[in-house]
Amino acid sequence: MKDKMTWEETIIHIRQEPEFKDLVEKAYFEEDLPLNIERFRHSEEFIATLQLIQAYQPQGKKVLDIGCGNGISSIAFALNGYEVTAVEPDSSLTIGAGAIRQLVQHYQLQNIEVFEAFAEDIKFPDQTYDIVYVRQAMHHAYDLDKFIAECARVLKKGGILVTIRDHVVFDEADKQWFLESHPLQKYYGGENAFSPTEYKNAMQKAGLEVLKELKHYDSVINYFPLSTTAFQAEIRRVRQSIFARRFAWAVYIPLLFELFNWYLDKKTGYTGIFDEMAVAGRMYSYIAKKI
Ligand SMILES: C[S@@+](CC[C@H](N)C(=O)[O-])C[C@H]1O[C@@H](n2cnc3c(N)ncnc32)[C@H](O)[C@@H]1O
Repeated sequence: MKDKMTWEETIIHIRQEPEFKDLVEKAYFEEDLPLNIERFRHSEEFIATLQLIQAYQPQGKKVLDIGCGNGISSIAFALNGYEVTAVEPDSSLTIGAGAIRQLVQHYQLQNIEVFEAFAEDIKFPDQTYDIVYVRQAMHHAYDLDKFIAECARVLKKGGILVTIRDHVVFDEADKQWFLESHPLQKYYGGENAFSPTEYKNAMQKAGLEVLKELKHYDSVINYFPLSTTAFQAEIRRVRQSIFARRFAWAVYIPLLFELFNWYLDKKTGYTGIFDEMAVAGRMYSYIAKKI
């Protein structure tokens, strides 16, 4: 008997377990494939990602989505009018290319093509895409340098690589903590993570210039499923209690708290309230340009 499940078997298993109901919803693993799409395309994360892409690549139309899983992003890009190539090594109807093909039929899309391949082994011609987008897949690379070199090769000059929500670790103990904490690792054993330096070095070696590094708490793109509203409310709540302790005499003058809050925003942002090192395998996102 094999001791690990495949990724597909893991997803089928957790769909039946009440303890994973929230994870299945938040990770867009529902059996109802269009439901995942509808949730994802209206999510704060995807809206923030589109804004970033439009800021860095306003004329970009051709998107390559690598390691696209059940196709939430590929379909969402296609529904937003992009010309999409979706690449996923897993062929399954549950969580792979088969699921995306069903969704293409469901939405009657003409602007998307689906291929089965690993990033390290894509066969597309050089300089084809304006945007190469990789969501939660770069940290699964079996060869990180090759993975990113292939992303860079197929980008047009000036095109951007957008990597979204990759786990980062800072040393071996941090990595072990992440692997032990991951809720699905015990089932399929396929988790992995690299350090920010490893991701950025691989990008630079591939001829990419890193334009933006979003650390875990820099954007809802990474800290989802926490919402922006909940994130800001928590900052305010913690600051209010600090303010009440330090300036008890001033708590009845609301404007003074607003000034205190404004000052801390300028000076420290969220630092000291949200500590990314308290999150196992925290997530980072990157934008890098082909030079
Ligand atoms: C966590 S899932 C993310 C799926 C999808 N991008 C999403 O955001 O829902 C990771 C995906 O990466 C794929 N993957 C694993 N290794 C890969 C590789 N070397 N190249 C491309 N994709 C890979 C897996 O098959 C899986 O579908």
